[in-house]
Amino acid sequence: MAWDPVGDDEPGARITLRPSGLVFRAPADSDLLSAARAAGIAVPSACRNGVCELCEARLLSGRVLSNRTRTRVPNAGRLMLCRSQGLGDIELEIETVMAAGENPARKFHANVVDLRSISHDVYGVELQLPRRRELSFHAGQYLSVLLPAADPCYFSIASSPSAEHLELHIQATPEWVSAQRVIDALKSGDPVTLDIPHGHACLASVPDKPLVMVAAGTGFAQMKSMVDYLQETDFDQPVTLFWGVRRHEDMYLRSLAQQWHEEWPPLKFVPVVGDCEDNDWSGHHDQLVRVVRASAHDWRNARVMASGSPTMVYTLMDALVADGLPESEFFSDVLEYAPR
Ligand code: FES
Repeated sequence: MAWDPVGDDEPGARITLRPSGLVFRAPADSDLLSAARAAGIAVPSACRNGVCELCEARLLSGRVLSNRTRTRVPNAGRLMLCRSQGLGDIELEIETVMAAGENPARKFHANVVDLRSISHDVYGVELQLPRRRELSFHAGQYLSVLLPAADPCYFSIASSPSAEHLELHIQATPEWVSAQRVIDALKSGDPVTLDIPHGHACLASVPDKPLVMVAAGTGFAQMKSMVDYLQETDFDQPVTLFWGVRRHEDMYLRSLAQQWHEEWPPLKFVPVVGDCEDNDWSGHHDQLVRVVRASAHDWRNARVMASGSPTMVYTLMDALVADGLPESEFFSDVLEYAPR
């Protein structure tokens, strides 16, 4: 999912990264690393002073000025993004920056640093990876927990790609055997093995249009990762977050979503709570879709990220596409793991 968020009439040099195809604008007075980060593009970096060489790239075309030597970087020459300025449009090769969904999954060991009950059936988990610096992922991606003699268990990552620890929201009840087994393993104190990252329904850079997030239940975790990430960038398009649950007590981080609504101007939070008497999930999903559809959005100019059951996601997609949303602007992991 590489998209071009940069219009030809926007100010600043146009920077294209290969092979990811990601594009961003760099103001004349900004180094390339700062401009990439402002656009939400995760470039490995540490010193920001030209020493660690983590932000190294190669110039493919265009003109670049080295801030350190005050000389032009030769074509095909190496440069450090943190110490370079673009002189007009440029194209760079940087293998460590991947487009959404193209960073290959790998196995990592993780230690549990926090595990607590955050509602009657949801646990909040924080994991620490000894090799954290080797892991890069995009906001909205997911991981699997690998336990011996068990199928992989998949969970959205709820934290920003820049966060030190990985956060998960795991819904577990005694009847839900596989999730309960994961919670038991995490409680044991032993390291667990993760396979990470997965998923194309994520953000590799900031979108150029209003964002509509629709989450059912613990689908909120995926949206939290994206909100945390967007708050770190200069993203200023409207964001509407619809969160649907069956009962009030299922909205396990409602105060956090409400806090975003009150303190982060781009975001509007719309809670959608089903009838307490209504235990019919499909009826509840219909309600969430109806609320989203009734909102005053110009669906021809919006990007939708959806997380929930296949029934909810496909009902929503069909409704919004009928209302004018381009199908290419609808993103959900469901489209990958439950294609129809
Ligand atoms: S961040 Fe260390 S060289 Fe650029």
